[in-house]
Amino acid sequence: MMDIWTKLQENYSAAEGRPIISLFDDPQRFDRFSVEANGLLLDFSKTSIDGAAFDLLLELAEMRDVAGQRDAMFRGERINRSEDRSVLHTALRAGDGGPLVIDGEDVRPGISKTLQAMEDFADGIRSGRIATAGGGAFTDVVNIGIGGSDLGPVMAVRALSPYHNGPRCHFVSNVDGAQISDTLRKLDPRSTLVIIASKTFTTIETMTNAQTAISWLKNGLGSAAASHLAAVSTALEKTAGMGISPERVFGFADWVGGRYSLWGPVGLPVMLAIGPAEFRNFLAGAQDMDIHFLTEPGQRNMPLLMGLVGIWHRNICRYSTRAILPYDQRLAKLPAYLQQLDMESNGKRVSISGDLLERDSGPVVWGEAGTNGQHAFYQLLHQGTEIIPAEFLVAARSHEPSLRDHHDLLKANCLAQSEALMLGRSLEQAAEIAAELGFSGKEQSVQAGFRTFPGNRPSMTLAYPLLTPYSLGQIIALYEHRVFVEGAVWGINSFDQWGVELGKELASTLVPMIKGAPADGKDPSTRGLIRALSA
Ligand code: F6P
Repeated sequence: MMDIWTKLQENYSAAEGRPIISLFDDPQRFDRFSVEANGLLLDFSKTSIDGAAFDLLLELAEMRDVAGQRDAMFRGERINRSEDRSVLHTALRAGDGGPLVIDGEDVRPGISKTLQAMEDFADGIRSGRIATAGGGAFTDVVNIGIGGSDLGPVMAVRALSPYHNGPRCHFVSNVDGAQISDTLRKLDPRSTLVIIASKTFTTIETMTNAQTAISWLKNGLGSAAASHLAAVSTALEKTAGMGISPERVFGFADWVGGRYSLWGPVGLPVMLAIGPAEFRNFLAGAQDMDIHFLTEPGQRNMPLLMGLVGIWHRNICRYSTRAILPYDQRLAKLPAYLQQLDMESNGKRVSISGDLLERDSGPVVWGEAGTNGQHAFYQLLHQGTEIIPAEFLVAARSHEPSLRDHHDLLKANCLAQSEALMLGRSLEQAAEIAAELGFSGKEQSVQAGFRTFPGNRPSMTLAYPLLTPYSLGQIIALYEHRVFVEGAVWGINSFDQWGVELGKELASTLVPMIKGAPADGKDPSTRGLIRALSA
């Protein structure tokens, strides 16, 4: 019997060249190929998936037991096999969802206690009850972290700027001294709180930046520096060594992956910025997406369908990248956030049991806020030789009612792009334009060629009413689960990241060589570069 992958491939080959627009001969297509979840709408009708492919994709999800794998994750089974860990970031936003026993311990009370401690701290800082060494209020917060201990808070603080009524937030991630230097130069240690965020508390970039920030605090405050420090980590014992008092340390368990950690203490800068009540709305949005993912049938399950569209594009159409295009300037950091979420999770070449994968896994994820991207790389999206599925995000309303014209233009541009990608412009239409411009004969057909758009390029659009803490929570949880679905279909472990280790190890061998030690054992190129970079 033909397997589902082969059937999907045959469906695709049989329909190759069929215009996406022709699929709209089915008047129900938009309704059938879009899905709603608590105010969020995902339209995937502008893809080449037809009814038969849709059914096959759902069959594929069943064959791969995506629902069973999902339930195992939510139950706390140790699905992160290479690290022998549960995967329970969803528990951080589950409220009082009944007992959740991991290794014989109900983890819910601990989650509530930590959330409460974060809220007390955030309220204290925001109100001035927790004062600076000099008795004043903290005006600025510097979060020092990298990867999952940075990208989530950076993205969310920026996304939620209309709700930002707490201290200013700054982020230092890169070990490049330029970043910390440029950040601290503008700040006063007497009114600045430094949060050191690192799941492991060993990451060299974060530890180096933390030492620099602590010296800066000590220069300004002397022995009172500790009162301007807080830490976020799973390695509580290591935080004490840095002089951070235990009541300023917010812990989380190893069953929260770094890139999934925004919902707990790693989200502290977000809570300081928008306050505990709005942070709870953020958690509520994510929780509602979790419930949707757990309970909706396949045909209406947004993360499942989004993941299956991803599988279609990656494995059947063989597209190697996907573009994230938020028509929402406040989501400008979303592409960078999703790069880690998606590529660190699904950039794998062996299956969960260690065998080489038979088919491609995670695509390259990239993007930029619209409309800026339009004036940069959309040329390639429309007329390049690669087909890149686009993922648009756009809100019905903005936070600037007095600038309605701006938002109308933004929405029009977003819809124009997905329409142009799908419809394109034929050679005949382009020839008419060339003729109108006064070209004739051979030059007219040359000019028409430049102005032709092949079209038939797929996209999805995620529409939401307004970018709020709640809708941001929904969107981020949606993408988390989409990554999960794709990883489950590919049979990989989406929750480890061994691919980042080798570079870290080699960097530690190179530090002494950069400082002048002989570069024995290094390849000729690396030796040459060490010489070229010697200061
Ligand atoms: O190097 C990759 C990584 O381990 C990410 O997975 C993680 O988010 C980041 O480094 C930072 O790690 P930590 O929070 O332990 O400092």
